Amino acid sequence: MTADTPEFPRAIKSFVTRAGRMGTGQIKALAELGPRFVLPYQTERLDPAAVFGRQAPLVLEIGFGMGGATAEIAAALPDHDFIGCEVHEPGVGALLKLIGERELPNIRIVQHDAVEVLEHMVGPAALAGVHIFFPDPWHKKRHHKRRLIQPAFVAKLVQHLQPGGYLHCATDWQPYAEQMLEVLSAEPLLQNTASGYADKPAYRPLTKFEARGLRLGHGVWDLVFRRRA
Ligand SMILES: C[S@@+](CC[C@H](N)C(=O)[O-])C[C@H]1O[C@@H](n2cnc3c(N)ncnc32)[C@H](O)[C@@H]1O
Repeated sequence: MTADTPEFPRAIKSFVTRAGRMGTGQIKALAELGPRFVLPYQTERLDPAAVFGRQAPLVLEIGFGMGGATAEIAAALPDHDFIGCEVHEPGVGALLKLIGERELPNIRIVQHDAVEVLEHMVGPAALAGVHIFFPDPWHKKRHHKRRLIQPAFVAKLVQHLQPGGYLHCATDWQPYAEQMLEVLSAEPLLQNTASGYADKPAYRPLTKFEARGLRLGHGVWDLVFRRRA
């Protein structure tokens, strides 16, 4: 019996794997820095203290794209450690390139579905924070089931947050922002840090795309919730 039989439907993924072109800088970064900064996906728990060689607040980022915000935040918060999950290989190469250029020792990458990474590699209450910036909005109604922020996933995710740990989501798609607010507000273990949407926290850099959108009058919505003690 295969994973696709009706008895075992394949889990719906929040991404589609695209073949992407890698630049030469990304290919070089992957070869030279991959062995040190990319952690292989595994079904056993990670020991963050062993991985980073220290005890520090650990932040997980889901879907870092090309890693610009990840690198910026890791540089600004050297006392925090960051694990970034991204399935798109050119993005992994791009972040590795930034890690090399900016000499960032506090980032590791897992090139795998973050839902499975959370389930298998991250322990309960292991995370000080989770960043989900501009997750795929899946505009069409028939694709809404692919959106990451859904009650069942959020219920699992909060189990990996320390009491007081935060979940920070941002989106530029208003209907998804509304779904996020509804789903996060309904999770009993989460408490909103704002009354509704939050002001953009200072640590989240403005992306070029976002700055352009804001100039054109498009909105961006940040949501910051904390796990209750
Ligand atoms: C719209 S992009 C945004 C990227 C980046 N956060 C930004 O703000 O530019 C969403 C990214 O999330 C990644 N992604 C979606 N679902 C994922 C998952 N379950 N695990 C890891 N990456 C995922 C996609 O590959 C894509 O690169």
